[in-house]
Amino acid sequence: MSSTEKQDLLAIDDLVDDLEDIIDWAIRYKHDTGIYADFLPLDGMAIGSIYEKPSTRTRVSFERGVHRLGGQPMTLLANDIQLGKSESIGDTAAVLSRFLDGITYRCFGHADVVELARTATVPVLNALSDMHHPCQSAADLMAIREFGKSDGHIAWVGDGNNVFHDLALAGLALGHDVKYATPAGMEPDAGVLARCEAIAAKTGATITGTNDPVEAVGDAGVIYTDIFVSMGEEHMKDKFAAFEGFQVNEELVAHADPDYVFMHCLPAHRGEEVTDGVIDSRNSIILDQAENRMWAQMSLLTYLVNNDAWHAYNEL
Ligand code: CP
Ligand code: NVA
Repeated sequence: MSSTEKQDLLAIDDLVDDLEDIIDWAIRYKHDTGIYADFLPLDGMAIGSIYEKPSTRTRVSFERGVHRLGGQPMTLLANDIQLGKSESIGDTAAVLSRFLDGITYRCFGHADVVELARTATVPVLNALSDMHHPCQSAADLMAIREFGKSDGHIAWVGDGNNVFHDLALAGLALGHDVKYATPAGMEPDAGVLARCEAIAAKTGATITGTNDPVEAVGDAGVIYTDIFVSMGEEHMKDKFAAFEGFQVNEELVAHADPDYVFMHCLPAHRGEEVTDGVIDSRNSIILDQAENRMWAQMSLLTYLVNNDAWHAYNEL
């Protein structure tokens, strides 16, 4: 991107060409702690984070990460601000753009973060919508790189949801094959799958879908699941019944490579989509994934909010 135009992160394929470098930077932030002595790309800047849904990892990792980059984090909970009550997204975006250097937004409908990005004059990062969770996928691909999972495909078992969409887009972009198993009727969004196929055609990776979890996890290097009923879907009680047979348990993971890694974006509903025996096993890397949210978001913020600094340091 040119240094004069702002760029937003609505879904991870917005950054597909630079994703590898963004993950390199995240790993550098994590391991080269001396970097902070003279590199504070958000010095004098402020990042506001709007939450319409609860959050533990996203909120804490953004607050801590912005602070580490020299910036001021500002958490804006939906109940405390005018958005959604007496002010439009466009007016909120325009006003916040006068105070802030970047905005993160966790919302219900994806169209809302698209509208915020359209009307804000500063970069907007999607901090989870019903369709996408790009910050999660950057942290996830960072963890997959760290654990050396370049062999064996990424297997998804469960709902074809927001977390899956960005995991698949990012995984395929970085050359990982993806196999997903969902119940009939819970498949990923067709438009996102078309974007996945377009990326796969470029990288040579493959994406395949099935309704059989055993088929998806056979010889997998990574097994990933998420809650069956996402935030905002609490009224869809019938949905839960469709996931009979989709629990990631000891019997299912026995079909994977013995050194597979288990991943989950968290929060987990233990005993529903995953057993304690799997999530607490030696194969589980859930805490590394969670920690990586901060490092990955620091890299994303540097790239989006101070792209000149990102390029200058990238060339060192
Ligand atoms: N994975 C994730 O986004 O967690 P939080 O909902 O706690 O932010
Ligand atoms: N799919 C889940 C992810 C939570 C981090 C949700 O949207 O609720």
